[in-house]
Amino acid sequence: MNAAKEKSVKAIVQDRYGGFEVLALKDLAEPAIGDGEVLVQVVAAGLHIGDVFAVRGSPFPVRMLSGVSRPKYGVPGYDLAGRVAAVGSGVTRLKPGDEVFGVCRWPKAGACAEYSRAASDGLVHKPAELTFEAAAAIPTSASAALHGLRDAGRLQAGQHVLINGASGGVGTFAVQIAKALGAEVTAVCSTRNVELVRSLGADHVIDYTKEDFTKAGQGYDLIVDNIENRSLSEVRRALTPNGTLVLNSGTGAGGLRLLARLVRPVVLSPFVGHNLRRYLSTPNQADLQFLRALVEKGQLRPVIDTTYPLSETAAALRHIESGRARGKVVVAVAA
Ligand SMILES: NC(=O)c1ccc[n+]([C@@H]2O[C@H](COP(=O)([O-])OP(=O)(O)OC[C@H]3O[C@@H](n4cnc5c(N)ncnc54)[C@H](OP(=O)(O)O)[C@@H]3O)[C@@H](O)[C@H]2O)c1
Repeated sequence: MNAAKEKSVKAIVQDRYGGFEVLALKDLAEPAIGDGEVLVQVVAAGLHIGDVFAVRGSPFPVRMLSGVSRPKYGVPGYDLAGRVAAVGSGVTRLKPGDEVFGVCRWPKAGACAEYSRAASDGLVHKPAELTFEAAAAIPTSASAALHGLRDAGRLQAGQHVLINGASGGVGTFAVQIAKALGAEVTAVCSTRNVELVRSLGADHVIDYTKEDFTKAGQGYDLIVDNIENRSLSEVRRALTPNGTLVLNSGTGAGGLRLLARLVRPVVLSPFVGHNLRRYLSTPNQADLQFLRALVEKGQLRPVIDTTYPLSETAAALRHIESGRARGKVVVAVAA
């Protein structure tokens, strides 16, 4: 193994679940890597709502991964971009010095640290066109957009798709990916984000402060709902008779109410003309390559709302939890 010299690294660490005050900047031992793994010198970490869930330990099922009573490792962040510092045995595709982006081995590692541990198949080469901050914004949110449109939504070129919540982390990617897949795109957002989603390629924009997309009288082949602020019957009336609704919000409810909201559409789907779907997206190497190719073709550009320094990771997570981010929130870990 070509391991880097052992040293301590700065990382954001939580030793218990709770509010963002549980996060502290500490020195940790540099992560050890095993066969098929890569040590990444992290330049930037991309954050999303799942990272908020992990710090809070809520919804409870997140603890099945990270530790039931307290976090086992406790460094937040899944998405990263940086430079390969060392590779474990069996890794031939990547070498020290390569610029990469992808996902770390969370919860055994975390992206909000100077060095992190990743499976080699969780990383791909960073497109030269992107900064590390922009590349770190891609993995989870762009994969969720791709999997929602292409896999759960089975989007075909020429179809008309509506994206509710088009200005957020997933939505800003979804607008661009839907255009790249050949769809006609209607984006739903607030007044302040109309120009943003238009600049991403949306053919039509519905400002939800002025117009109700469920009453627009238009039949959409596919609706990707990142917000789920409307009832199922209200959203379904905006679909074509055999259209597909992809539900994509794990936020805004808790406990049994959340469970009912997650399960009800899936149970109902076989009994109605519409396809009602949920999906769980995990970034994978093939799709990270696909997203990288879209960047290289000029069809995908991450929208960054704010970049925070590592010491302000708590503020970055608070920003995400507000539900008001325009695009992505990123943490700059190193230069
Ligand atoms: N299925 C999966 O595997 C998977 C993976 C990743 C994420 N997700 C889910 O995807 C959802 C979206 O994530 P995200 O990162 O895109 O969220 P986000 O970045 O927090 O979304 C924030 C955006 O939503 C807009 N917004 C707020 N209220 C709205 C409304 N009523 N109508 C339309 N837009 C509204 C906000 O702008 P304004 O406030 O100005 O409107 C803001 O730009 C989350 O629920 C997350 O859990 C699922």
